[in-house]
Amino acid sequence: MTIGNVDTTVWPGGRSGPTRMHRRSNAAGGSVHGLLAPIFALPLLLPACAPPDPTPMRSIATAPFGTTSAGDAVTLFTMTNPAGIEVRAITYGGIITTLKTPDRDGNLDDIVLGFDSLEPYDAGSPYFGSIIGRYGNRIARGQFTLDGETFTLATNNGANHLHGGDIGFDKVVWTGEPFERDDAVGVVFTYTSPDGEEGYPGTLEVRVTYTLTDAGELIFDYHATADRATPVNLTQHSYFNLAGTAADDILGHELTIDASRYTPVDTTLIPTGELAPVEGTPFDFLSSTAIGSRIDDDHPQLAAGLGYDHNYVLDRTDADGLQRAAVVYEPFTGRTLEIRTEEPGIQFYSGNFLDGTITGKDGRIYGHRSGFCLETQHYPDSPNQPGFPSTVLRPGEEYSTRTVLIFGVGG
Ligand code: GLA
Repeated sequence: MTIGNVDTTVWPGGRSGPTRMHRRSNAAGGSVHGLLAPIFALPLLLPACAPPDPTPMRSIATAPFGTTSAGDAVTLFTMTNPAGIEVRAITYGGIITTLKTPDRDGNLDDIVLGFDSLEPYDAGSPYFGSIIGRYGNRIARGQFTLDGETFTLATNNGANHLHGGDIGFDKVVWTGEPFERDDAVGVVFTYTSPDGEEGYPGTLEVRVTYTLTDAGELIFDYHATADRATPVNLTQHSYFNLAGTAADDILGHELTIDASRYTPVDTTLIPTGELAPVEGTPFDFLSSTAIGSRIDDDHPQLAAGLGYDHNYVLDRTDADGLQRAAVVYEPFTGRTLEIRTEEPGIQFYSGNFLDGTITGKDGRIYGHRSGFCLETQHYPDSPNQPGFPSTVLRPGEEYSTRTVLIFGVGG
């Protein structure tokens, strides 16, 4: 099947059932599979007609990924780029289930935590790989006042509201539409959050686009509109371990965060309102530092978070352009992850609540600090913090923010 003037449809096998893949052709404009189709001709054709394709192709494939306990069918999208980077994402929570990138020797490995099937996600996961909303991070006591009216949200983290409540955007089934461009493939996820969902005011129309570019970037574009004023703070909650699937903890990863200040928290991880300097503290990642080098220092804020679980105030040179927020380097594999964002903050969570009780992909046990999250965002509890940048979206306005993950190798 021809799509545009270059694509052909192939039907690869797969354990998830029939898969439709729109795949770019080779440089000669034909399908490699098509050239090899007459099996009897293989020995004759191979030397002359089927040279190894020097250019891996970009592709986007769609397959079923099971049914939720509520009976909703879930779809899996598999995106690949010419460098072999592979991103798998499902319509349940917009969850990135798999993310394979090359190490310095070109070996591909999965660098995110997650599950092999839908059931454990549906049964309850610590937000592995998911879209977070309507409000990423905590809102104190699940309450805020907006335009003189007080709203009460679901409290699902002690006395506080966390990551959208009992059924946040990570636990709903989104609509997913795959796309392919000249330089990228991706999926557009859409969801309508009804008025009153988890206590939030107004209907929110949300669109989150994942784009995997040929240049090795994974772009998250978040859009939302509301018919009533509401706080909105969307983010992505992938847990990374750049060392790959055989790795243990993430303490050897070397991290840079472009932030001179962070927002200290109380014992329930609600910001005190202060923007404190990182200088002279274990929170200083202005130059590349191993995550584990100070994580167990005697510092009241590390005690509060049981490690790092803090929002950093990014050193922005303009209000909302795309700027570098963080870089991570994993010394054994050489993998690097750079994060650029239009957001004012980034939550660095060092996987402190992972404790070996979750068994993930391929039977892997996720031990203490076996993954880290870097969640671009507005600051936690902004609806109750007049000194923080506003998170209120009003009718007629558009919430629009971009974060880019850039995968590479170094060292
Ligand atoms: C966020 C929070 C953490 C924790 C994780 C999920 O990153 O900041 O405290 O709740 O999600 O376990």
